[in-house]
Amino acid sequence: MIIGVPKEIKNNENRVAVTPAGVTEFLKNRHTVYVQTEAGKGSGFSDEEYIAAGAVILPSIEQVYAIAEMIVKVKEPIESEYALIKEGQLLFTYFHFASSEPLTHAMIERKAVCLAYETVEKTDRSLPLLVPMSEVAGRMAIQEGAKYLEKPMGGFGILLGGVAGVKPANVLVLGGGIVGTQAAKMAAGLGANVTIVDISLARLRYLEDIMPANVDTVMSNEYNIRDLIKSANLIIGGVLIPGAKAPSLITRDMLKLMKPGTVMVDVAIDQGGCFETSRATTHEDPIYEVDGVVHYCVANMPGAVPYTSTLALTNATLPYALQLANLGWKAACAKSEELRKGLNVVNGKVVFKGVSEAWNLPYTEVEKLF
Ligand SMILES: NC(=O)c1ccc[n+]([C@@H]2O[C@H](COP(=O)([O-])OP(=O)(O)OC[C@H]3O[C@@H](n4cnc5c(N)ncnc54)[C@H](O)[C@@H]3O)[C@@H](O)[C@H]2O)c1
Repeated sequence: MIIGVPKEIKNNENRVAVTPAGVTEFLKNRHTVYVQTEAGKGSGFSDEEYIAAGAVILPSIEQVYAIAEMIVKVKEPIESEYALIKEGQLLFTYFHFASSEPLTHAMIERKAVCLAYETVEKTDRSLPLLVPMSEVAGRMAIQEGAKYLEKPMGGFGILLGGVAGVKPANVLVLGGGIVGTQAAKMAAGLGANVTIVDISLARLRYLEDIMPANVDTVMSNEYNIRDLIKSANLIIGGVLIPGAKAPSLITRDMLKLMKPGTVMVDVAIDQGGCFETSRATTHEDPIYEVDGVVHYCVANMPGAVPYTSTLALTNATLPYALQLANLGWKAACAKSEELRKGLNVVNGKVVFKGVSEAWNLPYTEVEKLF
């Protein structure tokens, strides 16, 4: 198959969908890979590295779309790319159709085959192509939190791990899923006192088993959260109710219970945030203060560490991309339920229920395609 890797053109997107290591794997499976010049630059991969791995570098995005049977990307196509997409062309990338009506209509009109990273789903209902970004964001939440806890950055002025003779900081993690687990591990590794709260007792049991001794688990309810925020120096928001807005676990009145200079990192901001006072921020202007509490609410945290994020993402996407290239999308999706769940819009038909419901569009059962 002919695979095309365009350079991401969405603002501040430095990731790339295929690394030189990925090119090597495609070539081993007798595919051809065309990469737009400088597609990997933001993630630290040069054109020379791609050429050495066997890719062909093309000077423009138009040429990549024109030649490729499968486009592998990171972010959804933006408006200027719509016209480049060919009928029947396979696009494997993040789409998030339910948050963009114009994108949905554009992909229907182009009659593309849109396989969305975010809906590829394993039989245990986990989302293997979302997990790596949650891992990155969870780990990063602690390093950002530690930075903003420094006095010159507006924080309380406490070192997470303390030193001999001085107590460490208290870190409260709301939600013990992927984000929360990674955040707790990082904070514990730095020597902080960590508490994870979750509504799932089974999850708390698991975390209690695997976490080091400086991590406690507590059932999530308003009473416990009100109590824990009084002594917290850093609070990480990592709750998720799939398909719904995140619940406001810390309301505005609760900020008064906290120490001035407490830092709150709302990782769940992409689902509306789990603090009432959260509003989305950017890497250029990541924080603001409410009632003396520092809020960090960057909606695309992994974007700040494109090297790590690209490798984490492509480690997860490459096996699926190889299946698609080896068999073609139809046979690959007929064989793999995981991949089939990724199909959202195919040749002008909406085949993902959530997308048809979001924009009131006719729904075609995915099975009817085979
Ligand atoms: N800002 C970013 O850059 C970024 C990056 C990656 C992920 N995220 C977001 O982070 C959030 C968490 O993602 P995840 O992969 O860890 O999800 P996850 O499903 O693995 O974990 C969510 C956890 O929240 C728990 N939970 C639900 N309601 C709760 C409540 N009331 N109190 C306490 N816990 C509760 C669940 O039981 C679950 O354990 C998502 O909204 C995700 O989109 C943001």
